[in-house]
Amino acid sequence: MYILGIETSCDETAAAVLGFSPSGRAKVLSNIVSSQIEIHQKYGGVVPEIAAREHVLHIIPVVNEALKKAEVKPAQITAIAVTAGPGLVTSLLAGVETAKTLAYVWQKPLIPVNHIEGHIYANFIAPTEPIQFPAMVLTVSGGHTNLVLLKKHLRYKIIGETRDDAAGEAFDKGAKMLGVGYPGGPIVSKLAQAGKADAIKLPRPMLGSAGFDFSFSGLKTALLYGLKKDKNWAKKIPAYCHELQEAIVETLVAKTIKAAKQYRVKTVMLSGGVAANRRLREFLAETVKQKLPEAQFSLPQLAYTTDNAPMIAMAGYYRFKQKKTVKWEKLKMDCNLELK
Ligand code: KG4
Ligand code: ZN
Repeated sequence: MYILGIETSCDETAAAVLGFSPSGRAKVLSNIVSSQIEIHQKYGGVVPEIAAREHVLHIIPVVNEALKKAEVKPAQITAIAVTAGPGLVTSLLAGVETAKTLAYVWQKPLIPVNHIEGHIYANFIAPTEPIQFPAMVLTVSGGHTNLVLLKKHLRYKIIGETRDDAAGEAFDKGAKMLGVGYPGGPIVSKLAQAGKADAIKLPRPMLGSAGFDFSFSGLKTALLYGLKKDKNWAKKIPAYCHELQEAIVETLVAKTIKAAKQYRVKTVMLSGGVAANRRLREFLAETVKQKLPEAQFSLPQLAYTTDNAPMIAMAGYYRFKQKKTVKWEKLKMDCNLELK
């Protein structure tokens, strides 16, 4: 079977075709992304109206290219999976309306997919070993930071979330204060490599608090005051980037390990755009090995960390198997869609 995945929740217009063997093994036949990063860069962040306009311009060519590259004809497609939320309302609309139109014209079932669920399912695209349940998933991006207990396929329980900024947002806002550009995560991470440990000290927010919630706005404020006090900060940008990254990564890893222990999971899983961060990937892997030697560790391939369409098709496959499809008239977009 073939699933067409469509993703337009923020600033990437993406489509992909995944082929599935009868045993459920996925093959990514195409993965097309039209990125708007360069366009939004000059504004220092995503401008929703511009994002929407770009999606409308690119969505049909991107879908066409995904089909062409996969060498799959519309008639061969089994179902269309599309991000129904959460995300920017005008961005989501472009993908959802396109998916509805294609489903109507091609007479195909539609599969609404939650964007966060998509990030989680990036782990199921060609995993190195079969993933065992239950899993504790740290899912971190520009819009969300969650600890999700994945009991079995499509059964989620959110046990921790951010009370203010998301982890990716902490990278992005920190980068803005340091004047190093947008999007902040990859830039801070690169600059951090040249920074020295312990040259600067920032707090690890809520590290010792009860429960599994996160908070990153205090870190942002601490960085702001740190920079105000330090006349020479412009000469120490790599050191600030290093400490910002350490503060975010240490907090994320500590809470994830605590949650994984308490829920006695078999797998610890990482997902979302911030999962592209090398320090986070390595430190979480190391800590799981040390503190939870019995547990499996899973992380998505780099290509499926930031927003992409294969992850949406992958989650769509499991939804399709559980008959969670809708007719085109019934597909609803929800910019605050909850994970359930
Ligand atoms: O999942 P994603 O592509 O979009 C949302 O759903 O938000 O995540 C984007 C976020 C941005 O905040 C970006 O700065 C962050 O992921 N990010 C990174 C890295 N690559 C992307 N953060 C830290 N290190 C990276 N290498
Ligand atoms: Zn995302």
